[in-house]
Amino acid sequence: MNSFGLPAGARRFFRLEHEHQVGDALRFLSAHPYALVLGGGSNIVLATDELAAVLAPRLGGRRIVRSDSGFVEVEVGAGENWHEVVCWSLEKALCGLENLALIPGLAGAAPVQNIGAYGVEIGERIVAVKACDRHTGEIRWISRNECAFSYRNSRFKHEPGRWLILALRLRLSRRFEPRTHYGELAAELSGSGLGALRADDVARAVIGIRSRKLPDPARLGNAGSFFKNPILPSGHAAALCSHDPGLARYPVPCGSDRVKIAAARLIDSCGWKGRTHHGAGVHAQHALVLVNHGTASGADLLRLAAAIQDDVWRRFAVKLEPEPLIVRQRA
Ligand code: EPU
Repeated sequence: MNSFGLPAGARRFFRLEHEHQVGDALRFLSAHPYALVLGGGSNIVLATDELAAVLAPRLGGRRIVRSDSGFVEVEVGAGENWHEVVCWSLEKALCGLENLALIPGLAGAAPVQNIGAYGVEIGERIVAVKACDRHTGEIRWISRNECAFSYRNSRFKHEPGRWLILALRLRLSRRFEPRTHYGELAAELSGSGLGALRADDVARAVIGIRSRKLPDPARLGNAGSFFKNPILPSGHAAALCSHDPGLARYPVPCGSDRVKIAAARLIDSCGWKGRTHHGAGVHAQHALVLVNHGTASGADLLRLAAAIQDDVWRRFAVKLEPEPLIVRQRA
């Protein structure tokens, strides 16, 4: 149940499949205050071999709830596989999720870290998130504004332990508005004429790029990007770019004097790509991806991550922040 393939057990386990079980789920969570709420396990490092309790939300369902000539709103259960949701929307000729194809994990986790790839973030497509407030037991729809989305961040991250996500409502379009400015995606699509381009062509291109660069967790344990791309004052970013003109910079929405830079490039420049330590390593095709070659423990992965952070700090004065949730508890 974790894409790094780290061995760990749980003393208690609750699978939440229907909304009528929410009351029982809340009782489970109050009986086990250290319980881990586990989605697809694709953004987590289990740095402990035994967890006190795990709650796995697996509520299913995908349906169209509102539709007009331009837009369609769909509701998907938190337990739906994200990539299958993307494929389903494309089969229905609905546009807006194509750039987010092949992201591992379940739909319910998508708003927590505001998943994003190739120039689109899920927060842009969300109308509201249905969640249970664990403090009061109330189930309500939280609107996009209340979700406070930003790069790899949301209200659900700011308020850990408060919300149990049950479903998402997404606004998709019948009209395809390509978002293909992201360099690598534009290059992948350069052969295809923009006039004839369809949403599923974009999805296919994204799937092509991702499957070439990012290891399949079923074969090589990993959690996608291990570090966030740091957001720096623009002066600091400019100084780094003057030494390395190939360092990618991205604008930060509403970010006046701040710029996001490619952590992968910094890690690569320190010579980490392809290196291995105690069964944990840096992927040979992508410096931002840490992998478990089969025998690593969570502690091995964290030691490797710390060594990378030290190097990048010493060389560039940039603090790299891990993206996955690190679970150390043994309660
Ligand atoms: N680069 C290197 N060395 C490498 C890999 C990349 O120098 O080994 C440089 C490239 O020059 C490239 C730049 O880094 O210009 C950015 O690389 P890439 O386009 O692969 O994107 P990323 O910034 O590393 C982010 C997301 C990914 C998402 C891609 C595409 C984060 C933390 N990661 O990665 O998300 O798929 O953009 O949009 O924001 C994930 O979170 O699991 C994930 C894969």
